[in-house]
Amino acid sequence: MKATARAHTNIALIKYWGKKNQNFILPYNSSLSMTLDAFYTDTTVEFSSGFTTNQFYLNGELVNDEMTDRVFNHIHKIKTLLNQLDLPNFTVTSTNHVPTAAGLASSSSGFAALTAAAVKAMGLDLSKSELSRLARLGSGSATRSLFGGFAMWSTGNDLTSVGSAIDEHPEMDLHLLAIETNGARKKIPSRSGMQNTVETSAYYDAWVQKAKNDLDLMTYAIKQNDFELLGKVAENNAMAMHATNLAAVPSFTYFEPDTLVAMQAVQELRNNGISCYYTLDAGPNLKILTQSKNIDAIKAYFNKKLPKATIIQATFGPGIQYLS
Ligand code: PMV
Repeated sequence: MKATARAHTNIALIKYWGKKNQNFILPYNSSLSMTLDAFYTDTTVEFSSGFTTNQFYLNGELVNDEMTDRVFNHIHKIKTLLNQLDLPNFTVTSTNHVPTAAGLASSSSGFAALTAAAVKAMGLDLSKSELSRLARLGSGSATRSLFGGFAMWSTGNDLTSVGSAIDEHPEMDLHLLAIETNGARKKIPSRSGMQNTVETSAYYDAWVQKAKNDLDLMTYAIKQNDFELLGKVAENNAMAMHATNLAAVPSFTYFEPDTLVAMQAVQELRNNGISCYYTLDAGPNLKILTQSKNIDAIKAYFNKKLPKATIIQATFGPGIQYLS
């Protein structure tokens, strides 16, 4: 009773920011993302009566922290929902090819891979949509990592709020450059950051409305293969999400000095005729959206502007995969 799954992380172009139901992780707004080839998690789940306890290994080390609790709770939820409570103890072994918790949402690939491997190890065969519903109970952004290319996560109820594919093999020439200026664990987890914002930010209702409009525009941009529109809408949507945090009580932000330097650099590149846009999640690291012809110029500019930054390049990645 053992299975291994690989899930790629995704970057939200229309962000999920806030839950209307915290137990079931139901979002106030639908979100849309690009699955990335360069960042992924491989997870093996094994159930065996030979195991005396449950164990979680991350990147080769046995861990026992809040993440271990989240992993164990998640397996327990899956066992309960799928009527598998009499299964023996388990071991989860995960390798993260994502800089953990540095704003690159390793939880998206992590909970997608964990869900798929656990269900397979139970000997069950669920659709990607059913897996996405289960993955949601671990982490909202994981709903989208079951799918490749462009994916969406719809708001709804426990059964309907799932991920779906918009286009698993997009034609668009679209690349992402992750500018890592700070590799440390994020200071404010997305979970508490978004909840604080829902409860206190005067901008929250406006955010929900805007995210709906932006989703329509983004869907249109994808259908029209319009990179410029996609980039503009993604950047503006990210800034609106971060604006809700600035208006929370107490106010907070994920921006750091280097985040602002990187944002200005993108603006300068645009002023020089190089088309690129940025987005960022619950962390300080900027992600630049651009097209093939501009990659070298952007890298060269950032090597001058932020010489200490690590730049990782990505494009579209696939949906969930099972490894033997
Ligand atoms: O799924 P979580 O709890 O890691 O939250 C993700 C939140 C953002 O990354 C900021 C936005 C998103 O839609 O991925």
